[in-house]
Order: sequence, then structure tokens, then C-alpha cells
Amino acid sequence: MSSYDVIIIGSGPGGYVCAIRCAQLGLKTAVVEGRETLGGTCLNIGCIPSKALLHASHQLHEAEHNFAKMGLKGKAPTVDWKQMLAYKDDVIGQNTKGIEFLFKKNKIDWLKGWGSIPAPGKVQVGDTTYETKNIIIATGSTPSTLPGIEVDEKIVVTSEGALSLPKIPKTMVVIGAGVIGLELGSVYARLGAEVQVIEFLDHITPGMDAEVSKNFQRLLAKQGLGFTLGAAVQSVETHKGKAKVTYKLRKDDSTHSVEADTVLVATGRKPYVDGLGLEALGVKMTDRGQIATDSHYATNIKGIYAIGDAITGPMLAHKAEDEGMAAAEVVAGKHGHVNYGVIPGVIYTHPEVANVGETEETLKKSGRSYKVGKFSFMGNGRAKANFAGDGFVKILADKETDRILGAHIIGPMAGDLIHEICVAMEFGASAQDLAMTCHAHPTYSEAVREAALACGDGPIHS
Ligand code: NAI
Repeated sequence: MSSYDVIIIGSGPGGYVCAIRCAQLGLKTAVVEGRETLGGTCLNIGCIPSKALLHASHQLHEAEHNFAKMGLKGKAPTVDWKQMLAYKDDVIGQNTKGIEFLFKKNKIDWLKGWGSIPAPGKVQVGDTTYETKNIIIATGSTPSTLPGIEVDEKIVVTSEGALSLPKIPKTMVVIGAGVIGLELGSVYARLGAEVQVIEFLDHITPGMDAEVSKNFQRLLAKQGLGFTLGAAVQSVETHKGKAKVTYKLRKDDSTHSVEADTVLVATGRKPYVDGLGLEALGVKMTDRGQIATDSHYATNIKGIYAIGDAITGPMLAHKAEDEGMAAAEVVAGKHGHVNYGVIPGVIYTHPEVANVGETEETLKKSGRSYKVGKFSFMGNGRAKANFAGDGFVKILADKETDRILGAHIIGPMAGDLIHEICVAMEFGASAQDLAMTCHAHPTYSEAVREAALACGDGPIHS
């Protein structure tokens, strides 16, 4: 029987990163994965394929809306949907094979099949039981749908089915104005679908800084997305290849319905722990169905750890990766640590939206006095040249100490720009530290510096 120092169950960003770090730290490591390719939801049916479709559909948008303005004349391209899906599948293949290569390079065994834990120190895959000193559960999450809705992944789809629709729908209803709904809703709106987003709350993107959320909704509406807010979806019925979505408006309890070719259910995700045998083992769970862990990712059962979407915290690939590295260090006898105060969030629409740390709402709630430094991309030369003047950078800093507490960006490359603020926050920097750092001209990053200047004596270009 093979035995290991550590067996990781699940090969998504949490699991595969954890495995590589374990191997680098000299541990004999294996990963259990039942899917045909490595990489989990993120690489196969999540982050990576959706970014491929966002990229392709954005190119179409640019050709349709901005090429002629720059003197690039000619017919706008037409969409070959089959080819676009093939491009997306090729991107998936390149990435999943990349993980396979990294496993070989780091001498990590891939145990093919679905794993369970018959007892502490044992992992079963098919008919084989493996001995291991440590087990790390990195099984991720799965879409959570609503009662009254049956997902067939054809007409009523989750994010998985939405990445492989047989054709571009003429009409689409998106249930839930969170990250998935807005990213995939944007894709199909750009490809010509009439997209209606139905959201339970009175605003989109729960938890986001309210000013950013409002501006984001305005910009998406300008791109053609329709919004029905304050509406609780009750049911979805399918008939003759069409779907009928029924919802109740919260303000007056009135019932309405809308028809669509495709319905995307994007109402959140839940931890995926089915079939692991956690109940029989007595692994403690939270009341939200997550695996309960301590600050070292240890469950209540000795030698069993858990990371990523299966435990508490934001369901983000990069949060899982960081936990994967930290958990590897813990099982190797080192001191793994994740700073949960500095985990960026990004929505890859156009413009992108990115945030880190506190929002104005959380600061008001905690009674901390803060100041706001804001700068519009309209004042950024590079953004103007690239038709990317929509949006702004907003930095929140402590009123007395000037320490950066949070940042919110809506605009071009926001998902990349946020990271200089993350680094600054890791170092406990003040807004003035950022403002005094020379930023190359002309770059989008100058808008970050200007927002930092706005926390002090004022920005230059507004
Ligand atoms: P979400 O939690 O972000 O948003 C779900 C939305 O559905 C909420 O606004 C909620 O109010 C709404 N909702 C719930 N029940 C409803 C009902 N009956 N009627 C109408 N609206 C209803 O969930 P989402 O977008 O499915 O994403 C799941 C997870 O995946 C999130 O944690 C997200 O952060 C993560 N993710 C992150 C990405 C990124 O970082 N770019 C990309 C995709 C997913």
C-alpha cells in the first residue's frame, strides 16, 4: 500500500497550489482528483473559461463601438460561436495541462478518482486505500440554486452550462446580480442577447462599496443590461424550449413573470463535501455547511485539514491558493499565515471592478473616522486615449494616521491596479506613501497615485 506525508483531496487552485508547496517543502505528496483534468472549477468551468469568453466578447464590443473612431474602418466581425467555444476549450486545455506538468515536475502523484476518508490517516480512491500522515480537504464549492428551480444545464443553467450554451440566446434572464451573474450576463449582452438581471436586494453586488456599486450598475445599464432590483425569484418553468421566470417585487408583493431562451441561476455557491465521509468521521461543520477549522486550517479531527471554498471566508480562487500555501507550511511544521484583511476582489467586466479592505459602509458601522481620496479616470490621459475614461479610484484612509484602510476601483485594468494598494496595505503604508511614489506616465496607475494625493493636499489633474 502506498503511503504519503500528505494527500490533498481536490486539485483546484487551493489543492494544486497546496500540493506544489508541500512538495517544495520536501513532503511526499499526492492529490486526489476525479475530474478528467486537473484544476478544479476555476480552470475547467469557472474563472479561466469565463475570462476567455469575456476577452473574446470584449474584442467584439471594441470592434463594434470604437474601431471606426480610431480610423479602423470595415465591417464589424461576426460571431462564430462554435469557434469561440473551441478557443475557450483550448485555453482550458493549455491551463489544465500546465498543472499536470507542474505535478510531474514536483513529483506529485495524481490519484485518479473520487476520494473519501474512511478513517483518519486513510484516503480511499476507488478500491485502493492510501495511508497518509495528513489529509487536506480542498474540494471547493458547487452552485447553490433556489427551491422551485430545476437546473437542466440547457435552458436553465448554472455558470457551468452558461459556458457551453449550444447557441447564443436571443433573450436571457440572470437570477442574481453577483459576480457570476454580471460577468456572464456581460458576455451574452455583448454577443447580442437581451439580458435582464433579477436581483433580490435593492442594489447589485452585495458587500461592495455602495458608490462603486451604483456607478457599476449605471455603466452596465449603458451597455444594455436590464435590472429588476428588489425582486425575489419564486420559480422557473420550462415549456417548449423556453423558460418563464416568476418573481415577486418586495416593495408591494406583486407577482410578475418574464420569458427567456436561457435562464442563468447565479445565486451563490455552497461548499462541496459530498461523499467524503465527514459525518461518519465526526468532522465539525459550521451552520452554513462549511468545514469548521481553526486558524491553522485544522479540523477537529487530528491530521485532517481543510482550505478554500469548503471552509469559511470569501469563495475566491486566490484566497484558496493562499490558504493552500499556508496549510502546506503548517503540515510541514512551519508557520503558514493568510492576511484576510488584504484579499482583493475583482469583477472582470468592462470596466473592471476591484476592491480591497474596508468600504465606506463598514467603516461607518465600526465608527472609525476616515477620509476619502477619489480620482476619475476622465482625468487620466492614457484612459482618455483608450476610450476608458469611465470610472474612478477611491482610497479610504484613516483620518488621523493616513493609513490606507481600503480601496475601490472601477475602470480599466482595475483588477491589476488594485495590487499596488494591496502591497501598500501589507506594509501598513499611508496614502502619502503611495502619493510620494513616482508613477510612470502615461499609465492607468497614475489614477491610483492621484487618488492617494486626493487623501492629502489634492490631486493634480482634477
Ligand atoms: P453572489 O453571492 O456573488 O451573488 C448572488 C446574488 O443572488 C446575490 O446578490 C443575492 O442577493 C441574489 N439572490 C439570491 N437569491 C435570489 C432570489 N431568489 N432572487 C433574486 N436574487 C437572488 O453569488 P455568485 O455570483 O453566484 O458567485 C458565487 C461565488 O463565486 C461568489 O462567492 C463569488 O465571489 C465567486 N466568484 C468570483 C469570481 C471572481 O472573483 N471574479 C467569479 C465568479 C464567481
